[in-house]
Amino acid sequence: MKIAVFSAKRYDREFLDAANRGAGHQLHYFDAPLDADSVGLAAGHEAVCIFVNDRADANVLDALAAGGTRLVALRCTGFNNVDLEAAGRLGLKVVRVVTYSPYSVAEHAVALLLAINRKIHRAYNRTRDSNFSLDGLMGFDLHGKTVAVVGTGKIGCVFAKIMLGFGCEVIGYDKYPSEAFRSLGARYTEPDEIGARADIISLHCPLTPETHHIVNAGSLARAKRGALLINTSRGGLVDTEAVVEALKSGQLGGLAIDVYEQEADLFFRDLSSTVIPDDVIQRLLSFPNAIVTGHQAFFTQEAILTICQTTIDSVTQFASGLPLTDEIKSG
Ligand code: NAI
Repeated sequence: MKIAVFSAKRYDREFLDAANRGAGHQLHYFDAPLDADSVGLAAGHEAVCIFVNDRADANVLDALAAGGTRLVALRCTGFNNVDLEAAGRLGLKVVRVVTYSPYSVAEHAVALLLAINRKIHRAYNRTRDSNFSLDGLMGFDLHGKTVAVVGTGKIGCVFAKIMLGFGCEVIGYDKYPSEAFRSLGARYTEPDEIGARADIISLHCPLTPETHHIVNAGSLARAKRGALLINTSRGGLVDTEAVVEALKSGQLGGLAIDVYEQEADLFFRDLSSTVIPDDVIQRLLSFPNAIVTGHQAFFTQEAILTICQTTIDSVTQFASGLPLTDEIKSG
């Protein structure tokens, strides 16, 4: 089957080619993200393979279907960038990678938490300049602190388990509570208690219309003063301008994010020689108590291997007319 792979980086090519060795699909790689301008590149390809910041809105899906595409394969878990209703109407199947390595993302969330709390980013820069002063580097013990997990699915549960190992009290909120979370020794609570009690809040729920900006000026005002916020899920969960204000006032003690609402214009490319017009991210990057990583939480060898193998397997299932294990159905 001919597959147009968008937003293809060196590592995507390497791991997809390896996964495809026995499958024999024709992979055509494009550096460009999928959007209204680039969609023409997919003409004649029965499958497209896309990533987190590719746009598969109704217009793009219309053009894909018109060009002969029948399968959209996401090489990621989240699918907020695909208009599932339009895909269903056009008869396009959509698959994703349901599970690759929840450890990759949960462990990155922990890395961000440790770094922002113990100011590792600042210490790293200081000691490289032979500055061994400790002023401004004080953190707090995680042991005994209350950690709130919002979204207690696969990644949220792994994160919770690690934090329990640190001796934290773990509370959680999920629209669909699970026994798996409770059985770890964590407990569910309501958003109000998270605000009142959590020293650390880590977001692990999907971006949906319901969760858009769940962290906003109101919820930040109700949070415990000085709490740390970690977001490795999706940028749209957080109203970043409200977060900037909360950091300025000290209401939020620190922020560590791997995702950003406007990341499609920034992430996955080297902009170091460019003047970035996005004042919000620039302001965030100026805070000593904010860390930004560029959507790298998934980026471990184990995760990429599984993502690429699952994607090729899904295309093979589709080509063979088999049921699609990882199909996302609209509604
Ligand atoms: P999952 O589906 O196992 O868990 C998501 C949880 O969120 C579920 O328990 C679900 O019930 C809950 N949820 C749904 N709506 C909710 C709401 N309105 N309020 C509270 N909870 C709600 O997904 P998984 O694998 O744990 O991934 C979580 C998210 O992590 C993904 O949606 C994706 O956005 C993000 N992600 C980020 C990556 C990165 O590299 N930064 C990589 C992979 C995933």
